[in-house]
Amino acid sequence: MSKKGQKDEIRVGLIGLGTVGGGVVRVLRDNAEVIRRRLGVPLRLVKAADRDASRAKALGLPAETFTTKADELLSDGSIDIVIELIGGYDPAERYLTEAMRGGKCVVTANKALLATAGERLFEAADRHGVEIGFEASVGGGIPIIRALKEGLAANRIEGLSGIINGTSNYILTQMTESGADFNEALSQAQRAGYAEADPTFDVDGIDSAHKLAILATLAFGTPVDVKEIYTEGIRSLDAADIAYARELGYRVKLLAIAKMTGELLELRVHPTMVPSDELIAEVEGVDNAIFIVGDAVGETLFSGKGAGQLPTASAVVSDLIDIGRNLVRGAVGRVAPTGYRPESRRALRVRPMAEIESVYYLRFQAYDKPGVLSKISGVLGRHGISIASVIQKSRALGAAVPLIMRTHRAAERQIRQALAEIDAGQDVAGRTVLIRIEGEEDGDAAAA
Ligand code: HSE
Repeated sequence: MSKKGQKDEIRVGLIGLGTVGGGVVRVLRDNAEVIRRRLGVPLRLVKAADRDASRAKALGLPAETFTTKADELLSDGSIDIVIELIGGYDPAERYLTEAMRGGKCVVTANKALLATAGERLFEAADRHGVEIGFEASVGGGIPIIRALKEGLAANRIEGLSGIINGTSNYILTQMTESGADFNEALSQAQRAGYAEADPTFDVDGIDSAHKLAILATLAFGTPVDVKEIYTEGIRSLDAADIAYARELGYRVKLLAIAKMTGELLELRVHPTMVPSDELIAEVEGVDNAIFIVGDAVGETLFSGKGAGQLPTASAVVSDLIDIGRNLVRGAVGRVAPTGYRPESRRALRVRPMAEIESVYYLRFQAYDKPGVLSKISGVLGRHGISIASVIQKSRALGAAVPLIMRTHRAAERQIRQALAEIDAGQDVAGRTVLIRIEGEEDGDAAAA
């Protein structure tokens, strides 16, 4: 403390020296001067914990700054902010909770933990009068958390949609550019170091759902139960549909969508066709992009690197600076963890998936014989679904051919009922492919 009772440095403890932890060490070291100029006092890494001592050595950390015991750091009363970068649920939650109970502010990048235990963590921050920063949990280096909590705070948010998983966007980009099927593109992503050996969280939409839960919590001032998010990944996408999408003037993206429709909140993650002239369609490879619509600001798009050592470290250190500023000025808790004051948050009801409305791409594997098209369109018509366009790809009498339809806006329940009836009948050779289309009002799109 300085003579005036103000802090003359901010003391940081770091748990986890993996890829992002190493990035934080580097940014704190390489950008120490610009950080001090912005914060007013030095941001000092006083202790780092990891089970693997060789990591500290590789990063050039002095021996006295390193420990293999996270508890040592949690019990150090001189530390102002603890960063948790070990991921997973336990002991990550325990470390964060203990740090807050001890009066320390915390920073985490742990989206899986925030999506499932966020309410407990936010409540603990409030109860103990400390801050919790989680800018790095969504969109890597893109400052999307702060944008929602502060930059867009004047708005009623109408909706947001984003590409928030770089691994699946990389795979979809490969499938689009080279015509590769999912397994080939996944192997390529694994060889390039973008996909994990077990890619489940990324390709099955789970990571996107975790991040969507966090974004929706901030955007709409509501707790979100991640189990209420309809989640469909990219594993079963067929290269043929990606190619047909291109011909029709779309790109297929794994979109995470949250929007208010009436009084209900729609929350969904699924492969989505977006018009190829939309900015979000041009987000390729491991990049992320989040499109937010506010009633006052209109449309905004945030894009950049959604993962990686230094981009993610950039977000973590921005939290340290933000919290550090509040500590220096005695203004801890200035912005509530979710951007809404805890007492004014409201639990919104989630619209059941069967009740959403969308424009649909359908690919029937139709037998090419007289009357089939009219029977299929008859079933759709009986379920109140109006067809916007039809393309039959090739003709081979008696065999199944791809019959592609775009619908006008229709309810998911009606589409599901119609497809169940069609797929159970004699006119198609297999299960009909359904991909939702976003970004156009009524199926009157594009055409390449
Ligand atoms: N696995 C994530 C992705 C990166 O592929 O986007 C970290 O959030």
